[in-house]
Amino acid sequence: MRTEKGSHATSSLNDCRLITLNKHHHENGNLTVVEGEKELPFDIKRIYYIYDVPGGAERGGHSHKECASFLVAVSGSFNVEITDGVNKQVFTLNRSNTGLYIAPGIWRTLNNFSSGSVALSIASHNYDAGDYIYDYDEFLELTAHKRNND
Ligand code: TYD
Repeated sequence: MRTEKGSHATSSLNDCRLITLNKHHHENGNLTVVEGEKELPFDIKRIYYIYDVPGGAERGGHSHKECASFLVAVSGSFNVEITDGVNKQVFTLNRSNTGLYIAPGIWRTLNNFSSGSVALSIASHNYDAGDYIYDYDEFLELTAHKRNND
């Protein structure tokens, strides 16, 4: 992955992966810990969660220039479709201790949310509206060099 400050990272799908977190199993329930850089390939700056998603709704639909994310279905399930501008992959997240690490520069769309699902997102950067690419055509322009083999 190549990143210059403020530019769109040139990650590929190979930089993204499922990460299985620890699970402290107990007869009274399970507990999973995410602590700093121990479990994730970045230092945690921000956490948010998406819930009460109406049936059929889609979230995401953007890429980040610099921010990396880790998504987990802490409850229920949803799909995450990711593309680097060349390849696409769909992941179904449905386990509370397995999430998807998404490198910066990857377009992601979340859909197929089950009723009552909660999508936890752990991010490497504070919120910055300027870090988002919301326009898919712009994303295709930023990743065009990958499809031109240069
Ligand atoms: P958005 O990133 O568009 O949600 P998603 O991509 O997950 O569907 O964010 C929705 C709204 O919440 C938008 O108005 C920006 C705001 N927001 C913050 O203020 N801080 C944050 O950290 C995030 C993720 C969103």
